[in-house]
Amino acid sequence: MITTVQQHIQQEMSEGRGTFGWLMSGITLATKMIEAKIRAAGLTDIYGALSSENVQGEQQQKLDVFANQALIHCLGTRDSVAALVSEEDEEPVVFDRSLDTGKYIIVFDPLDGSSNIDVNVNVGTIFSVHRRLTWGALTESVLQPGTSQVAAGYVLYGPSTVLVYTTGRGVHAFTLDPTIGAFVLTQENMKMPERGKYYSVNEANVASWPEGYQQYLVGLRNEGFGARYIGSLVADFHRTLLKGGVFLYPPNKVKAEGKLRLLYEANPLALIAEQAGGMATNGADRVLEVRPEAIHQRTPFMVGSRYEMETLGRALRA
Ligand code: AHG
Ligand code: MN
Ligand code: MN
Repeated sequence: MITTVQQHIQQEMSEGRGTFGWLMSGITLATKMIEAKIRAAGLTDIYGALSSENVQGEQQQKLDVFANQALIHCLGTRDSVAALVSEEDEEPVVFDRSLDTGKYIIVFDPLDGSSNIDVNVNVGTIFSVHRRLTWGALTESVLQPGTSQVAAGYVLYGPSTVLVYTTGRGVHAFTLDPTIGAFVLTQENMKMPERGKYYSVNEANVASWPEGYQQYLVGLRNEGFGARYIGSLVADFHRTLLKGGVFLYPPNKVKAEGKLRLLYEANPLALIAEQAGGMATNGADRVLEVRPEAIHQRTPFMVGSRYEMETLGRALRA
């Protein structure tokens, strides 16, 4: 028989599972709306860019805006949500809810891999859930380190649509069954292989990386590693989770903090990686321990199998 996300949460969580289950149903509903839009993209006017830019100064794709609106709409109706932080909005969306009602902060990248939408390549949604702190200003609740995440996950819109999540009790995957419109459990307690055979990085930037990264890649090539780079973080990460290997977005001379965002790209994937036995760093420290200072701050992000990540650590300390 099938197990849905809701059932899994009821089994997994001891306390707060009703509220959290209702919260997660907001995410699954929004991602099913996004999936439907993506599947019909060529048939409806959802491809292409808008004239607007997001807070990152990046041109917004129509699907970025739709995905963002879907998540804000579906999650905004959950009383347990105190605030939403989106890659697409400069400021958090704050709801007027009391401390004992508005218990959660949700941070998300509504559509990851936007540059791949118009060429029909995998894109994703990434989310991270924090508890609202019962003290201090709301910004303190928003700027918590990755170790404080209550849950994290992503949806990968590919040949099939897969939701992967963790509540700190292992990593589990669900596949959307379009015949019943539900995410159905397909993998439990996923473990990242100790070692893979691919590295995943945009090698166009190689000349501008710190020397240690360049030497590291020479070493991997000498060990026979191949290269795979899709350009959608969620897709490159999902392959690394299933097959092992290493994904890198290093710092470079132009982007000293790299390109990827700490709160809604690095932290959720770092939690999943560690829960599956992998590692995630910013080149020096465990990503999850970085104390955020701004909601859209960027971080160098390296994530992958134990062997590749320990080798990277040695290369960067050399
Ligand atoms: P987003 O579409 O949410 O802005 O994310 C795009 C990110 C990430 O998905 C991917 O790993 C990275 O951009 C690719 O960047 P480069 O094109 O610089 O390699
Ligand atoms: Mn992204
Ligand atoms: Mn995005």
